[in-house]
Amino acid sequence: MTSIPPAALKIRNLEKSFSMAGNSLPVLRGIDLDVAAGEKIAILGQSGSGKSTFLHVIGTLDEPTSGQVWMHGKDVFARAGKELDTLRNRHIGFVFQFHHLLPDQDAVHNVMIPALIGGMPSAQARERAVHLLDRVGLADRLAHTPGELSGGEQQRVALARAMVRGPSLLLADEPTGNLDPATAEDVFNLMLELNEEQNTTLIVVTHSEQLASRFPRRLRLNAGRFEESTCSA
Ligand SMILES: Nc1ncnc2c1ncn2[C@@H]1O[C@H](COP(=O)(O)OP(=O)(O)OP(=O)(O)O)[C@@H](O)[C@H]1O
Ligand SMILES: [Mg+2]
Repeated sequence: MTSIPPAALKIRNLEKSFSMAGNSLPVLRGIDLDVAAGEKIAILGQSGSGKSTFLHVIGTLDEPTSGQVWMHGKDVFARAGKELDTLRNRHIGFVFQFHHLLPDQDAVHNVMIPALIGGMPSAQARERAVHLLDRVGLADRLAHTPGELSGGEQQRVALARAMVRGPSLLLADEPTGNLDPATAEDVFNLMLELNEEQNTTLIVVTHSEQLASRFPRRLRLNAGRFEESTCSA
């Protein structure tokens, strides 16, 4: 269903520092990373190591202090304003630890909204939303609002929402951090399946060595850089 190929990323000397009361707090300290199109990567690392910061920067929600990111061979941060918004909205899907679903909208509308914002005709957006909700096992929960769904169901709606525009890159920041282990496993399985079916590149942050071990490539963020991790849970 996706009309764009999965994203390949090239990241060079990526640095991100935060400025606090006149002091610079370096978080990402010169990251070099190549991500192949369609690759599945789990990112591990201690709390405060910069995992969310990394996802925010490569997802263009935040700017790097220095360094470059190429997506589909194009320099991401050479773009600005509307062009950068278009790249983000069209190519990148996000799933967060807390789903940020709209509380007064039912599951179908929560999934449809990014597609509608992107200009997809309403009937097509609904059809795609229903298809994805069916795919994540919620065909009989279409009219439920987030408050009428369990935590794992809400996270599955958030996953369907992130996929609705057929992103070439799906970024997930501890998407199962507040779920019980069995439900977390279900959501991870779905992400891995959808990654194959929908042809996306998938980068997931998790604290779980066990969930990370499901991924063919694991990176550990330590002192502002990635180490290829050898965890084998
Ligand atoms: N907007 C900000 N301003 C200042 N410092 C920040 C900001 N955002 C993050 N930091 C700092 O950057 C460091 C990395 O934060 P980040 O949220 O990326 O960590 P993380 O690896 O995702 O941690 P966790 O596993 O707890 O989610 C932290 O020490 C944090 O205090
Ligand atoms: Mg984080």
